[in-house]
Amino acid sequence: MNSFTYRNPTRLHFGKGTLEKLNQELPQYGQNVLLVYGGGSIKRNGLYDQVIDRLNQIGVNVHELSGVEPNPRLTTVNKGIDICRQESIDFILAVGGGSVIDCVKAISIGVYYDGDVWDIITHKAAGTKALPFGTVLTLAATGSEMNVNSVITNWETKEKYGWGSPLVYPQFSILDPVNTFTVPKDQTIYGIVDIMSHIFEQYFNHTGNTPVQDGFCESLLRTVIAAAPALVEDLENYELRETILYSGTMALNGMLSMGMAGDWATHNIEHAVSAVYDIPHGGGLAILFPHWMEHVLDSGVGRFKQFAVNVFGVDPAGKSDREVALEGIQALRAFWNSIGAPSRLADYDIGDDQLDVMTEKAMVNGPFGHFKRLKHEDVLAIYRKSL
Ligand code: NZQ
Ligand code: ZN
Repeated sequence: MNSFTYRNPTRLHFGKGTLEKLNQELPQYGQNVLLVYGGGSIKRNGLYDQVIDRLNQIGVNVHELSGVEPNPRLTTVNKGIDICRQESIDFILAVGGGSVIDCVKAISIGVYYDGDVWDIITHKAAGTKALPFGTVLTLAATGSEMNVNSVITNWETKEKYGWGSPLVYPQFSILDPVNTFTVPKDQTIYGIVDIMSHIFEQYFNHTGNTPVQDGFCESLLRTVIAAAPALVEDLENYELRETILYSGTMALNGMLSMGMAGDWATHNIEHAVSAVYDIPHGGGLAILFPHWMEHVLDSGVGRFKQFAVNVFGVDPAGKSDREVALEGIQALRAFWNSIGAPSRLADYDIGDDQLDVMTEKAMVNGPFGHFKRLKHEDVLAIYRKSL
């Protein structure tokens, strides 16, 4: 293991009825609250009314920013920053999926930054202070509810970048599985793929002596694989929603990666696709991840064999390590196909005309990935195989 320091200050309120925790959480932060949400799902499923009722009960002044896009945009972040400054906002409440939460993270740090918040998103500047915020999560996927990451798209320049700062841990996050019942089937599938991908990004490493972390990763993967097929056929099943929601948070709140360096190349490669084509993040990952695995396999066959045996139960008897490893990758592909995830860029009508553009975007900071350092030709090869 590598040396590490771990601290995660987000208070997690998990379970049925936990929206009531707003009454306990909110009063300490001040009078002016900015409520941020997406394109209207919370109005359709009644969560908006429940939140507003509570905010009225608590007696805070409520301002609103709605219409946060899936793959949230810089223009919306800037709108939020303007509202916070004009209305002297004390606290931001994000009600939605990862996009809403990521947008709020950028607003919260941008409020106290004199320049363009894009400087922070592109790692040219670090913020010094952030407005406190909390979240009510409505979709299991990103882990943004309990981490410091945020991914923002500049649609004018077709750039999408992830950034992070310890200043933007949510103060609290409220996770009630019931609030995820209305997530449609496709978004549920993308969420499942994203959760599994976060585990892969951490699991495929060369650190050595990480048996506890490996066990956590493998157990979470087996759990998600067991729950997912039933969930996509039974979207209002409380126990299955609960399992996936908890898995999503655990997959990316720092717990899995203590003492080891993750890879994160496939996320970078996917963000370049979403930047150009605005496709769902989980859909892109489902297409790209198996190809990344095959591309980097020879940098660590043993790790892929362990994955195949411990996660998909591949029988290694009479097979070479490489054959076992390849069977594991095939099993992953078959599993994702079986729950309805896309498998080719063509599923999103993406052809080969922008491959160079996407590769340039992915390579903007030079070679990347820790399991295998990827160069321009590697990224292009993975895109080509994904067509
Ligand atoms: O906008 P509304 O109307 O709310 O609809 C959303 C949106 O259309 C809908 N939805 C959410 N909760 C719902 C619901 N529909 C019905 N019922 C509900 N309860 O689902 C759609 C997708 O929502 P979004 O927030 O975009 O999904 P997700 O949580 O997957 O977030 C994706 C974004 O997060 C970034 C991705 O790149 C992408 O921009 N990521 C953030 C990470 C992080 N902060 O740690 C890590 C990830 O790897 C990822 O890159
Ligand atoms: Zn992701």
